[in-house]
Amino acid sequence: MDFDDIVRTRRSVHQYTDEPIDQETLEAIFETASLAPSGYNLQPWEFLVIGEEKAKANLAEVAYGQEHVTDAAVAVVILGTTDLTAHADAVFDDWLAKEYIPDEEVKTALLENVEAMNEMPEDERRIWTTRSSALAAMTLIYAAWDHGVASCPMEGFDPAGLVETFEIPDGYEPVMLVTLGYPAEDASDIENTRKGRRPVDEFVHYESFEPAPKTSLEVPGEDGD
Ligand SMILES: Cc1cc2nc3c(=O)[nH]c(=O)nc-3n(C[C@H](O)[C@H](O)[C@H](O)COP(=O)(O)O)c2cc1C
Repeated sequence: MDFDDIVRTRRSVHQYTDEPIDQETLEAIFETASLAPSGYNLQPWEFLVIGEEKAKANLAEVAYGQEHVTDAAVAVVILGTTDLTAHADAVFDDWLAKEYIPDEEVKTALLENVEAMNEMPEDERRIWTTRSSALAAMTLIYAAWDHGVASCPMEGFDPAGLVETFEIPDGYEPVMLVTLGYPAEDASDIENTRKGRRPVDEFVHYESFEPAPKTSLEVPGEDGD
């Protein structure tokens, strides 16, 4: 599929077939997701893949009983480290090797900068990790759909319950859940109908920002009659 098709045909899917996703496909999807951009290329995300029935049931419980968690082949818990330094050394070594930075001195300065940023209050580090990890989640969603694997991003879960149930160590923000599975062919039209979007001229602001009057939603590419 070309990118425009991927974006236009993707839906948040709640009904899946029983077909499992083979490991090779999952790994191809995750590899594409790894190409998501991140602040300083620090790649703060971790993907916890939940596929066993019992574990999916536990996840559904902390997701307020949302059934698509158990119906999907797997659910991916997107976690984000709140430690900005977690992968900094490897990232700057890579920059050095590729001559993106000239020498060890610059690498040391970059590391010091990241260490200084890591002194931010926890709330700010949680926002920091959410930015990049959410982009990884979006990349995962598009990569999956390119393989015919549908998904649903989810914020409807109890983060504290998730951390407890899956014994997530301190220092990781539960950013989002993403269900993955092949879409049910008999999914209702409601599931497939494109939900409206705010029109471009309502949310795009050139040069200065002033909230625009609210207009009705539309579906891009359709004239709305
Ligand atoms: C951050 C985020 C959180 C969401 N949380 C949930 C959720 O908890 N449960 C759910 O069924 N859908 C959830 N959705 C899916 C949205 O309802 C869906 O993206 C939106 O209605 C637009 O539909 P579409 O994705 O099919 O275009 C979430 C989407 C996003 C981006």
